[in-house]
Amino acid sequence: MRDNFLWGGATAANQCEGAWDRDGRGPSLVDMIPHGPNRLPIMLGQMDYRSLPQDSYFPAREAIGFYDHYQEDIALFAEMGFKAYRFSISWSRIFPTGEEKEPNEAGLAFYEKLIDQLLAHQIEPIVTICHFDLPLSLIERYGSWRSRHLIDCYLRYCETLFRRFKGKVRYWITFNEINMLLHLPFMGAGLLFEEGENPLQVKYQAAHHELVASSLATKLAHEIDSENQVGCMLAAGSVYPYSCKPEDVFEALQKDRESYFFTDIQVRGAYPSYAKKFFEKEGVELAMEVNDEAILRDYTVDFISLSYYNSRCVSTEAHEEGGGNVFASAKNPYLTYSQWGWPLDPLGFRTTLNALYDRYQKPLFVVENGLGVRDQLEEDGSIQDDDRIAYLESHIAAMLAAIEEDGVDILGYTAWGCIDLISATSGEMSKRYGFIHVDKDDTGQGSLKRSRKKSFDWYKDFLKKMSI
Ligand code: BG6
Repeated sequence: MRDNFLWGGATAANQCEGAWDRDGRGPSLVDMIPHGPNRLPIMLGQMDYRSLPQDSYFPAREAIGFYDHYQEDIALFAEMGFKAYRFSISWSRIFPTGEEKEPNEAGLAFYEKLIDQLLAHQIEPIVTICHFDLPLSLIERYGSWRSRHLIDCYLRYCETLFRRFKGKVRYWITFNEINMLLHLPFMGAGLLFEEGENPLQVKYQAAHHELVASSLATKLAHEIDSENQVGCMLAAGSVYPYSCKPEDVFEALQKDRESYFFTDIQVRGAYPSYAKKFFEKEGVELAMEVNDEAILRDYTVDFISLSYYNSRCVSTEAHEEGGGNVFASAKNPYLTYSQWGWPLDPLGFRTTLNALYDRYQKPLFVVENGLGVRDQLEEDGSIQDDDRIAYLESHIAAMLAAIEEDGVDILGYTAWGCIDLISATSGEMSKRYGFIHVDKDDTGQGSLKRSRKKSFDWYKDFLKKMSI
């Protein structure tokens, strides 16, 4: 295991900051994603947010008030012994419409204070540049990432961050769960579909623009500071064949490739041959510029970051559906399931880490892992979150086995939602991941008071042991 292994926690601006209209911030796509039955059609890009009822509740707009509480929250992270904290920057706090000539100083100043506070606690900042978050104006004016113009806007934003935080931030992640663009196109990449469009064409064209943007951002980051380390980020989780029937095995391979498509390009630097054949079959024709292939080839990432919540399972025969993030999956009879129907599979984590390392031989970084559960507040105010502790213990043990027994090179581990925040898929507060409880409910009511759960002390003790 690396000496400087980065243990810590992770959050994202869109799920914790709130303050959606403060200090010059412009509206962002996530501010338009409501709680309730319209959430899924909006996230899928099947429903236009402009047609939502007036009284819709948008949880990201206030979230957990991290914008005002960040000092107290970082002090709690430091108390647990974090060596790293992964957070994202809200693009529209820096460029409110995405196209201003000058960045919004108040936005930069907020992140500067946040980063300085982390450094004062010897916590390494890990910055996600774009986590389900982009200025709404870029969606309304250009149709989001379907337009090549977004590459220029993104690069201006990146350059602003790389210059301002030079020497303070070393680890950058270009796009959170880049493969989510295929599954939740509006939430992942601001895509709304028009009638008669081939959604695959739109999605892969947008993906191409993000991939080129990611490569050019990597180039820029290295030019501005040779110490910068840039990573891609994948919603990972190996796909199992339901049976050893060859058709099931082949289907699992195909499903894995749906995700590997992104890392194959970001790590190996070229469109894989299976993707070219898939595009031919589906009538997808990508508009590319003459230098695009060279850009993808020349500016590959330094590390592969990933989220792991569960494995998946596919069957080519009639089967019962099982849940798990937003990926369709057959129910795996060998696993138990969380309160939200996500499979619990620590060994699947070890399998996933090995599969990625075998494929790419590049350092991995686990930047999300955790269990979303309903917490029970006891009469004395405590929260005995043993389920969460058991999940984290078993998954960390699986990761340590991948490192110690299988030789997988991993840079660090940041537990997802180290403080309770808004769930991305459900928009609920009650789906909690944190070591720190936040008093707020699904309708937005609560004092926002922070308190330590049992898992807070467990993680603190664990990190203490790991640092000896
Ligand atoms: C990942 C995202 O997909 O999973 C996070 O990067 C998200 O933003 C996390 O919160 C857990 O999903 P959920 O839906 O339980 O919040």
